[in-house]
Order: sequence, then structure tokens, then C-alpha cells
Amino acid sequence: MTHQDEAVSLEALIRATVPRYTSYPTAPHFSAEVGADSYGEFLDRAVDGPISLYVHIPFCHSICHYCGCTTKASRRYAPIEAYVEVLRSEIAMVAARIGRRTVSHIHWGGGTPNLLSAAAFEAIVGDFHRFFDIGPDTEHAIELDPRHLGEGRARLLASIGVNRASLGVQDFDPAVQVAIGRIQPAETVAAAVEQLRDAGISSLSFDLIYGLPEQSVSSIRRTIETAVALAPDRISLFGYAHVPWFRVNQKLIDTSKLPGSEQRLKLERTAHDSIATAGYIPIGIDHFAKPSDAMAVALSKRTLRRNFQGYTTDRAETLIGFGASSIGRTPAGYAQNVTDTSNWRERIVNGHFATERGRALTLEDRLRADVIEQILCFFDVDLSATAARHNTDPAVFANDLGKLAPLVHAGWVTVDDGRVAIVRHGAELARLVASTFDAYLGMGGRHSVAV
Ligand SMILES: C[S@@+](CC[C@H](N)C(=O)[O-])C[C@H]1O[C@@H](n2cnc3c(N)ncnc32)[C@H](O)[C@@H]1O
Ligand code: SF4
Repeated sequence: MTHQDEAVSLEALIRATVPRYTSYPTAPHFSAEVGADSYGEFLDRAVDGPISLYVHIPFCHSICHYCGCTTKASRRYAPIEAYVEVLRSEIAMVAARIGRRTVSHIHWGGGTPNLLSAAAFEAIVGDFHRFFDIGPDTEHAIELDPRHLGEGRARLLASIGVNRASLGVQDFDPAVQVAIGRIQPAETVAAAVEQLRDAGISSLSFDLIYGLPEQSVSSIRRTIETAVALAPDRISLFGYAHVPWFRVNQKLIDTSKLPGSEQRLKLERTAHDSIATAGYIPIGIDHFAKPSDAMAVALSKRTLRRNFQGYTTDRAETLIGFGASSIGRTPAGYAQNVTDTSNWRERIVNGHFATERGRALTLEDRLRADVIEQILCFFDVDLSATAARHNTDPAVFANDLGKLAPLVHAGWVTVDDGRVAIVRHGAELARLVASTFDAYLGMGGRHSVAV
């Protein structure tokens, strides 16, 4: 097979739309069978080990054209203040049910959590300290929009214990920034980096996106050069997910300016190679970390995990989601809060959990979730050892292995004595290989392309 043939057939393969597997079963397979009562039972059964806390803040100053997150624009603070009040009631309600537990990881996501006032941050973190055990080892991370930071805010975040921040950078090219409705000069990002480092928050991560309108191989190379010059500890490189049927703001993206699938693959490879050449270790399908960073260490020790926030070093089996649309995971199953903020508020103020849908996990779900997580994290999995850990016969995978035959034939995947390994094009093929172990694939849900 020539290099060109290979590129073309690989391109055809990864044009398949497959989930990103931040959970298994994936969110389209959650159902209304899991509501507030089931969530309470899930929490009662989540008795072992530390827990993680996720706080969703679904507010932004304005909505970027490309955004796929659950958020809305709010120029006024009153709705955010009202939201925080309800959030505090939800935290108290969950804490009363789950009891005093050690917290391994706190994550603020959104939306733009840095829009919260100092009083709101202090009140919520005060609640966390009142209800849970939070110590010096607790990782405390936040997603930040660099356009709304400033020295005072950076110091405030450090004072409440934040020790890791990820900044929404996306792309530094001015033409791309116009096309995606997010004007953010490199100086703005550089200032945010300096403010965070000066405040003592030195573990920084950048979010970048490839596949955006107006992006070219040379522009994305320049974006990576500018990004690595600021020396973040981690970089996430997401493929732009264009889902206008789901996120109407994306209708503002001029689709004639979007790269085609061949160009997308070139953009991904250029960005991937430029980041790796700058000394970062590629992690899974879309992350990079400096070799000394905890995530690179977790990869080499095979302790890396994947959850709703993507790759993580957090090993807690229970993740509690607070806020509208947040998703929690317990060993017994997943639970997602209702997305609409007024609906979420009404349920909480009436003293009920706001769970709208979710999924109780069967033994087979847990086994397949383990297999899929290993493929996404390490590009390999020992099916026999994994099945043994779940007290199952690896013969359960016989059909799935058959589906891998074309990839094995192409020399990209090996299957050897129950061990599946992606030996070429790992970042590009991992979602596809993982999907062969997804018992629900094709039973609903609409996803973005693999690269
Ligand atoms: C909640 S935002 C980050 C924080 C902050 N709101 C910001 O944008 O600066 C999380 C990240 O998701 C990524 N993202 C958002 N929409 C996306 C899309 N449609 N496709 C791929 N990545 C997307 C962006 O990289 C963004 O930084
Ligand atoms: S990308 Fe970030 S700032 Fe832009 S709309 Fe989405 S959540 Fe808000």
C-alpha cells in the first residue's frame, strides 16, 4: 500500500462518526429511568474511597460561534448570583446524603466559571470545607476564559485553593478568531498566564482546537509555536465538533470555510507533530503534557483515567456533579442533572435531587467501560486480564474482535493472545477501535467525526 493509498483509506475510516467515550455507556444511552430516587440510591452505595466534585457554571459573557458547551450568555450578574444560591442548596443536600468524605479533586467547568464573584467562590469553597475533607493533596482545577481574568481574580483563585487552571485559547490566528467569533489576542493569553503564575497557580493547560474555519497548515503551526512559547504544562487539542442541529450558535460558522476531512487530518497531524516536537508527551487522543507533569507520569505508570472532563490523573470512583446539566458517576451508575436552569432550580428548592436521566451499570457495562477506557488511555488492552478482573470469560469479546479484522489486515492493530494494541495511528484510530467494544453503538445518538 502506498503512503497516499494509506492516507486515503485511513481518512475514509476516521470519517466514521464515533463517540469520544468520556463515559461508557455514552450520554445518548442515558434514560429517564434514572431520576432523583435512583441517584439517592447510587449515592448510598458509593461508600468506598475518596470522591471528586464537579461544579458546572453555565454562563458566559457572550457565546463563541463554535461553542459546543452547555452555557448561555449573561451580561448581568443577578442570574449568576441566583444560580449560586441554588448550587449551595444542592451541595448541602448531596453532602447530607453522602456524608463527610475525603475529596481528591475539585473541578470548576462551564461555561466560564471565572465570572463568579469573590463572594460566590468563597461561599461555595467554604461549603466544601464545611461538608467534606479537603486537604493539601486535593487537586483543585478550573476552566478559565483568559479574556475575563485579571490580577485580582487570579489571586482570589489561589486564595481559595485553586492549583490548576486550563485556559480556553483555541487558535491565535486573527482570521480564525474572526471566523469563530472569539477575538482574543496572544497578549491577552500571555497576560493571563503571567497573572496566574504570579499568584502561585503554576500548573497550566491550554485548550486548542483544530478543524476551525480559516485554519491552514501554516496558521496552525504558528498557533502551536505561540502556545508552546508560553510553556503550559499541558495542552488539549480538540477536533472542532460541528453539531449545529444541537448547538444553534454554530449556525454562525460559515461551513464553506470549514476544512474538509483530508485537510482536517493534515491540521491534526501538523498540530500533533509540532506539539510533540516541542517536547510534550502525547496523551491519549487529544492531550499532551510535559514529561515531568503528573499526567505524563500517570500515562507511564498506567494510572491515567478518562472521565467527563477528558483525561485525568484522578482515580476517585465517585464523581459528584453540581449544577444544571452536570453529570455524576458512581460505581452503581451515571446521573445527569436537568439542563434547563429554572427546572434545575425548581427541583432543588423543592428539596429533590435534580437528576433527569442516567444509567445504572450492569456487570457487562462495567467490563466494557474498563476495556474502552484502557483503549482511549493507552491504545491497548489485555482482554483476558480485564475479563478476569471482572470475573468474566473473555469469550464475550469474540464478535468484537472479528470487527477489528480490517485494521489488523492494514497493520495498524495487532491482536495477540487476547491483547489488542493499536500500533499505528493511535490517536486517530482509538475512538474507532474502542467503538468495536461498544455494545450500544448504532442504537441511537449522533456523534462527531473521529478526527
Ligand atoms: C468550557 S470551555 C473552556 C473555558 C472557557 N469557557 C473558554 O472558552 O475560555 C471548554 C473547552 O471546550 C472546547 N470546545 C468548545 N466547543 C467546542 C467544539 N464545538 N468542538 C471542540 N471543542 C470545543 C474549547 O477548547 C474550550 O476551551
Ligand atoms: S467556548 Fe467558552 S467562552 Fe466561548 S461560549 Fe463556550 S464556554 Fe463560553
